[in-house]
Amino acid sequence: MKRTQLFPLFILFLICHCIKINSQILTPPLSKLPRINGAKVFGVRPNSPLLFKIAAAGEKPIKYEVKGLPNGLQLNTETGLITGKLSKRGDYLMQVKVSNSLGNAERSLTIKVGDKIALTPPMGWNSWNCWGRDVSKAKVLSSAQAMIDKGLIDHGWNYINVDDAWEGQRAADGTIQTNDSFPDMKGLGDWLHARGLKFGIYTAPGPKTCLGFIGSYQHELQDMTTFAGWGVDYVKSDWCSYSGIFDQEKDTSLAAYKKPYLKMYDAIKVQNRDIYYSVCQYGMREVWKWGESVGANSWRTTGDIEDSWESMHEIGFNQYFMYPYAKPGHWNDPDMLVVGNVGWGKNLHPTRLTPDEQYTHISLWSLLAAPLLLGCDLAALDDFTLSLLTNDEVLDINQDPLGKQARRVYCNRSRYKFHLYAKELEDGSVALGIFNLMNYNLSYNDISLSQMGLKGGMIRDLWRQKDIGVFDDILKVNIPAHGVLLYRITKVDNKK
Ligand code: GAL
Repeated sequence: MKRTQLFPLFILFLICHCIKINSQILTPPLSKLPRINGAKVFGVRPNSPLLFKIAAAGEKPIKYEVKGLPNGLQLNTETGLITGKLSKRGDYLMQVKVSNSLGNAERSLTIKVGDKIALTPPMGWNSWNCWGRDVSKAKVLSSAQAMIDKGLIDHGWNYINVDDAWEGQRAADGTIQTNDSFPDMKGLGDWLHARGLKFGIYTAPGPKTCLGFIGSYQHELQDMTTFAGWGVDYVKSDWCSYSGIFDQEKDTSLAAYKKPYLKMYDAIKVQNRDIYYSVCQYGMREVWKWGESVGANSWRTTGDIEDSWESMHEIGFNQYFMYPYAKPGHWNDPDMLVVGNVGWGKNLHPTRLTPDEQYTHISLWSLLAAPLLLGCDLAALDDFTLSLLTNDEVLDINQDPLGKQARRVYCNRSRYKFHLYAKELEDGSVALGIFNLMNYNLSYNDISLSQMGLKGGMIRDLWRQKDIGVFDDILKVNIPAHGVLLYRITKVDNKK
């Protein structure tokens, strides 16, 4: 066949491919009208440098205003960056307004100055699930730039976390140094902060990291001070080689599990900036019961996730009993997200989760109030993945200020496995996830809200952003294989 004859076939292939991808997209196209997204509450310690980016979507340019901005804070009206310091403890309520050529939007924002940070789960990116040991400054910057260019930052995504493989040797005075892939950590931190992004880094409480690089053992204070100097906002501390020390010490008490994490926390809390503390020890000794007591803002509850249904659903659907331990400032962490192009090294591939499995993944992690850390190459985001990550009504469930993890309100263990999760929200409404764990469609005509202890009301389909009607009790549903329906039930005020 001649090249010219092949051309129409190629165009046909492209059209079919686009139709296939677009038919899987449930999130309605983004409006050009301004909308304020992301966290409505933000915690900061007295006198810590504050950096808060107002997340706002809509046609650019957008202008930002804040009424009631307390003395000590400044707003950049072009970028929506709030910076400064507050020394007095208390709740500072302010009104944020964003406007563009088409209109404006307002929302309240509360900055809480006190001992707690991470009042909503962190949302951002981590290098591990994509680049693994092949991470470099250039790759990190590329995803950071894409977080801005593709608009993720406008929906509340803001952490950029470098995982393992940045570490070099220690200098003669013990100061940790970077390897050649990260020539200038302070420069990287400054670059991120100037754009409203936060900077995360990885270390280990043992002598080595999981990849065998240098860990922070016996250098905890020195390393945390170095990190603070680089402008680090987030530290992940990964157990791995600490097992060697643990075994040598022959102490298997709970205190022995806590010891290395408390030591690291002591070094973090004396720094002159707020640092999110992410404890990673895969759930040993039911870490969810004591993570808060070692100062952790989140604790990994499981081993490493992979981009397969088996891995994602095994992890995701086994978090339900930890719901009492999640709260503002302290989150259960079922590991990072596996959507987009992942690969843990040089060769990336599109996630092996089907589109419905990805809806399940994002819905479940949102209901669980879990940290949302993307593990894909953001520069290579496709339209489907972008639509999955920019549905504000879904992300609002994760970022709800009440900070509750969903409870599992129904679990059918018989032949037809379907599970229901309900998350109480600040405004009195409830987010409801109805999950089909089978590999074929399931239909039900008789889901009773009252039997699950839930009240009826107006039901909104959050992925489609559409009200579907008022239901007092019984729901009829049809859920695709490994898929989900994510609803918000709002009480109807009959008096109106
Ligand atoms: C694992 C950890 C991963 C990643 C990796 C780096 O133990 O669970 O998330 O950080 O180490 O070596």
